[in-house]
Amino acid sequence: MSTNTVDNKRKVTTRRLSEMKRRGEKISMLTAYDYSSARLLDEAGIDVILVGDSASNVMAGNVTTLPITLDQMIYHGKSVMKAVNRALVIVDMPFGTYQGNSKEALASAIRIMKESHAEAVKIEGGSEIRESIERILCAGIPVCGHLGLTPQSINKFGTYTVRAREEAEAAKLIEDAKMLEEIGCFAIVIEKVPAELARKVAESVSIPIIGIGAGGGVDGQVLVMHDMLGINTGFSPRFLRRYANLAEIIDGAVKNYIADVKSSDFPNESESY
Ligand code: KIV
Repeated sequence: MSTNTVDNKRKVTTRRLSEMKRRGEKISMLTAYDYSSARLLDEAGIDVILVGDSASNVMAGNVTTLPITLDQMIYHGKSVMKAVNRALVIVDMPFGTYQGNSKEALASAIRIMKESHAEAVKIEGGSEIRESIERILCAGIPVCGHLGLTPQSINKFGTYTVRAREEAEAAKLIEDAKMLEEIGCFAIVIEKVPAELARKVAESVSIPIIGIGAGGGVDGQVLVMHDMLGINTGFSPRFLRRYANLAEIIDGAVKNYIADVKSSDFPNESESY
């Protein structure tokens, strides 16, 4: 049983995340795409809510994150923002909205901030998209980087297995992390890389490193809420810890409801007007 050290009132900001890293306080992050889930996460005291483009898989049933649009990310971001008082909310920049050129990247980030009211954006990639990130940062928009396994590049990688096992890719990842810190990103998500490499990155930069499948030597952890609550049961990578089995609970509840309707047990007199 872990002790709850969460300060449940003070608003989480990008500045506060950097203080947390300095103090050695781990950062908790989960995904949410809708008002009701975001409200539950915020009330439980989560530090950061990521409106991830994993909404493409989890909400829309797509095989990859590529199809989700800017309008759809803004819709999810707006729904989450209405529910949240304390957590910092970051919205993912979807595939195709920042790679073309930095002007397009800035226009996409501005739409996310203006229309969803989110507090920051997350963007996948390193040196290849430096100019786009710099332009977004120049507009005063906080940017969280994303290195390692970057799911928007799945068609280039061809697999979702662990990244940066080879020396050259590991060296580039460290270089990219240092570059993202230098240009002004406030944090970096590092996905599915060896734990030792992730620890080295966290020690090499002063901004928080949030890991997913990146071991315990980083400054915080992120998981997809539907995976850790056991709503999505078809995905069981080694890094995933399930904190509930909601699929089983929902299945039982729905079966009981069906039986009650069929037997005319529901509604009873006290449930009727
Ligand atoms: O889209 C997402 O949910 C993400 C997390 C897996 C980090 O980027």
